[in-house]
Amino acid sequence: MPNVAASRDCQIISGWSATFNQDEPDKVKCVPLHKGLKLYAPAKINLTLEILYRRADGYHQLQTVMQELAYSDLLYLEECPAGRLELICDDPFLPSSEENLALRAASLIQQHYAPHRGAHLALYKKIPVAAGLGGGSSDAATVLKGLNDLWQLNLAPASLQELAARLGSDVPFFLCGGTALAQGRGEIIHPLPPFPRAFVLLVSPPGTELSTPLVYRSLKWDKIKSGEKTANFVQLLRDGTGKSSGDPDLLARLLELMVNDLEAGAFALVRELSPLKKMLQEMGLKPLLSGSGPTFFAISNDHEKLRAAGDELTSRGYRVILTSTK
Ligand code: C5P
Repeated sequence: MPNVAASRDCQIISGWSATFNQDEPDKVKCVPLHKGLKLYAPAKINLTLEILYRRADGYHQLQTVMQELAYSDLLYLEECPAGRLELICDDPFLPSSEENLALRAASLIQQHYAPHRGAHLALYKKIPVAAGLGGGSSDAATVLKGLNDLWQLNLAPASLQELAARLGSDVPFFLCGGTALAQGRGEIIHPLPPFPRAFVLLVSPPGTELSTPLVYRSLKWDKIKSGEKTANFVQLLRDGTGKSSGDPDLLARLLELMVNDLEAGAFALVRELSPLKKMLQEMGLKPLLSGSGPTFFAISNDHEKLRAAGDELTSRGYRVILTSTK
């Protein structure tokens, strides 16, 4: 087993300098002193998410279009001697032990491909946790890619994909990012032409987290679907790209096809979600839950409209992030 020494106290991790941000005293800024890597671990939204059927292994067969966002966690990786793996994280509510998916990713790649190598990981969280934005999965994929580089392992993409799929259904998407169709339980990735560049407003009730297994369970899914909306979405995306001037209606037509079969499960667990969706619609937005929630996203070319809606929602106490597709 790897030697996992975990601490939230930056000061006791040798080789790192840590300073506290004066504006946000709970946030620790960690800067590697030696040669290391600074990496961005982006958030995602699900532009479509359709459940085809419930599988015998308890998972749900999916068809989902995933989209990388320009909003990221920050991760520093640095070589550490004697096969040690250490994680520091500025979020005191995240486990720094092996429960943390980033550290599990480091441990997995070390066990399989580099038993004598070690690393310091410093994770600066910006993506809300358990919010349907894939933050933990993205951190894990970024650790796999980063350690592959840092330790000069030259692993084939298929080997990284295999490790990623073992860590979680959403993790393989973050190895490639961009816009992609995910199938199976979410781990089979087909890159797609990029979704049009647009602004994205993320909104969730404050302090609300949702457990993905609970949302799937609350659905009690017994239907069989073909995933037609996702197929149409993918077709439209493929047809719409390559036209040099771009189709001005493409974004609007894609937004019409967005769907998330997990909404009903999340709405049954969190009462505030249904009224929040209605409120966003009354503001002229087209909200959809991302993944298992509880974050809604709304996409538009109109930055001012999203900014004004975001200001209003912030004043009403909602957690709001304004970003864009990547
Ligand atoms: O793969 P991951 O560990 O992220 O999945 C967490 C849980 O979410 C699974 O144990 C399962 O309960 C549920 N899940 C599912 N179908 C999927 C993905 C996840 O039922 N396609």
